[in-house]
Amino acid sequence: MQVALAGCSTIDDPDEPALVAALDRLGVRATGVPWDADVDWSAYDLVVVRSTWDYVERLPEFLAWADSVPRLANPAAVLRWNTDKHYLAELAAAGVPVVPTTYVEGEFVPPPGEYVVKPTVSAAAMDTARYGPGDDAAATAHVERLRAAGRGVLVQPYLRAVEEHDETSLLFLGGVFSHGAMKGPVLVGDRALTPVETVIGPRDPSAAERAVAEQVLSVVREPLLYARVDLLPGPDGPLLLELELTEPFLFLDMAEGAKDRFASAIAGWRP
Ligand SMILES: Nc1ncnc2c1ncn2[C@@H]1O[C@H](COP(=O)(O)OP(=O)(O)O)[C@@H](O)[C@H]1O
Ligand SMILES: [Mg+2]
Repeated sequence: MQVALAGCSTIDDPDEPALVAALDRLGVRATGVPWDADVDWSAYDLVVVRSTWDYVERLPEFLAWADSVPRLANPAAVLRWNTDKHYLAELAAAGVPVVPTTYVEGEFVPPPGEYVVKPTVSAAAMDTARYGPGDDAAATAHVERLRAAGRGVLVQPYLRAVEEHDETSLLFLGGVFSHGAMKGPVLVGDRALTPVETVIGPRDPSAAERAVAEQVLSVVREPLLYARVDLLPGPDGPLLLELELTEPFLFLDMAEGAKDRFASAIAGWRP
């Protein structure tokens, strides 16, 4: 079996070498290939989208590439749906507890309290910032800048409990829960306007977190080689912040056996 791990040419995937080694132990030959490389994708038995982290500014090109790959995981239709955070509204309508989300369509009216402005297509908290009372002009300028660039914008209340409890990620490999992880708050202190990657670590998700993640995946009803469900603590329980079915960092170092579980899921995957 020949597998391509689709990445990008600008950023290395820290998990790739160990994953390639784990696949090799199963007799699967895996190679990292940037998604925009000029290669014959039909030569691979499977192309796994992994670290295509530069697609945000090139979404139509990225989705056209996904459509063109004969055996892709996750499937192109899943990527098309999942790369735009409008999917949060669909999941909320299906009964999933989601961080309250308003899409800015007409005039931007700053909400009360503290809130977060982010593009509907985003990754790694780029172009995401937190505002509060008194920041109306800056927040409006942020919204206008995104819209002038042709980007969708959403607004959410800032869930301050993330500063106590952190963000919880639940990782599913081959459709089965594999492990949990935590990520510290990103939009804090001086960082409120310029998010950075922050502390990450292992975490055993609570029963309530497991239940919400399972509910999310039951609504999606697609074959998913990998999925990451990101939850923030809400006033009445966990709330979905993000469902990552495109290019999630999978926290494979955070749990014993996670790399081997992912390798087995890839080796057994029939797209
Ligand atoms: N509503 C919110 N309340 C608190 N923190 C938030 C909120 N939205 C985003 N954040 C912080 O910003 C980070 C990035 O936001 P996220 O929605 O996950 O977008 P991305 O797709 O860029 O990862 C989160 O990991 C979290 O720390
Ligand atoms: Mg995120």
